[in-house]
Amino acid sequence: MSADPANPDPSGWTRKDLVGIRELSAAEIQLVLDTATAFKQVGSRQIKKVPALRGQTLVNFFVESSTRTRTSFEIAATRLSLDVVNVSATASSLSKGETLKDTAHIFQANGADLIVIRHSSAGAAQFLAERLRACIINAGDGANEHPTQALLDAFTMRERLGDLRGRHVAIVGDILFSRVARSNIHLLTKLGARVTLCGPSTLVPRAFERLGVRVTHELDPLLPEVDVVNLLRIQQERQRKEYFPSLGEYTALFGLTKARAERLKPDALIMHPGPINRGVEIDSDIADSGRSVILDQVTNGLAVRMAVLYLCSNARG
Ligand code: CP
Repeated sequence: MSADPANPDPSGWTRKDLVGIRELSAAEIQLVLDTATAFKQVGSRQIKKVPALRGQTLVNFFVESSTRTRTSFEIAATRLSLDVVNVSATASSLSKGETLKDTAHIFQANGADLIVIRHSSAGAAQFLAERLRACIINAGDGANEHPTQALLDAFTMRERLGDLRGRHVAIVGDILFSRVARSNIHLLTKLGARVTLCGPSTLVPRAFERLGVRVTHELDPLLPEVDVVNLLRIQQERQRKEYFPSLGEYTALFGLTKARAERLKPDALIMHPGPINRGVEIDSDIADSGRSVILDQVTNGLAVRMAVLYLCSNARG
C-alpha cells in the first residue's frame, strides 16, 4: 500500500460495485480496511479533503429512510472531492411510477459515475449493478445486506482489538430481518472470528448455523465469553407478525441492562449499528458509557465509505 493517505494503492480491487460482503474474499475485505486506515488520517487534518475523485459525480439515492448511512456517504464523497446529488424516493419520479431501472439510467445519463442506493427490496443494488456502467454501492437492500455497515463494524473492532482471528463476537437481537447481521456474519467468518447469534428463537432460527455460526437463545451465559457484543435494533417496520410477546419481555431476556453489562469482560466492546431503541436493546446509560463504541462506529464509517468509493471508482477506470 502507498504511504500517501490521500492516494492509497487501489491495486488488488477489481470490482466496480459493492453489492454485498458475501462475494468478497478475505483479502478484499482487508484491502478495504487498510485503505480506510489511510483515509482515516485525512479526517484528522485541518483540511479534511483530498482531490482523489475530483471531477466525478455521485448520486446518493435513498428510497428508504436513513440518518447515518446517507450523511456518511455524502460527507465521505465530499472529502474525496466528488460532486454529490442527494435524491429521495418522494422527491423522485419513482413516486409517479417510474421504474427503478429507468430512474437509475436517468442518473447515469446525467453523468453519475457512482450511485449509492438504499432500497427496501433485497437485490435492488445487484439489479442495477448488472445493468449500469456507473459504480453501484449498496447502502442496504431490504433484509439482505448492508456491506459498508459490516466493514465499519470490522474496522472499529480491528482498531480496538487488532486481528479479529479467534475473537468472539455476539450479535444479539433481530437477526432474521437484519441486513446488518447477514453482512457481519459473512465478514466476521471470512476474517476468522467466532460468531454467536442470540435472541428469541422466532428471530434467531437454527437455520443460521449453516452460515458457520453458533445460535443460542440465552444471553446471560454468553456475555462473559465474548470480546464484542453487537446489539441490533428491533425492526418493527419489517416484522409482519408478533415475534415476541412485548418489548418489555424482549428487554427482560435480551436487553443489555446495567446488570448484564457487568457480566461482560472488562475490555469487551459494546456496539450498535443504530438507530437505537433506547431502553429496549440497550440501557440508555450503557449506550452513552465509555464502554460503548457506537459513535466510533459512525466516525469510522466515513473512512470506510471513502475507501469503498475510491476503490470502486478506480476499478471502473
Ligand atoms: N446503521 C444504519 O444503517 O443507520 P441508518 O438507517 O440511519 O442509515
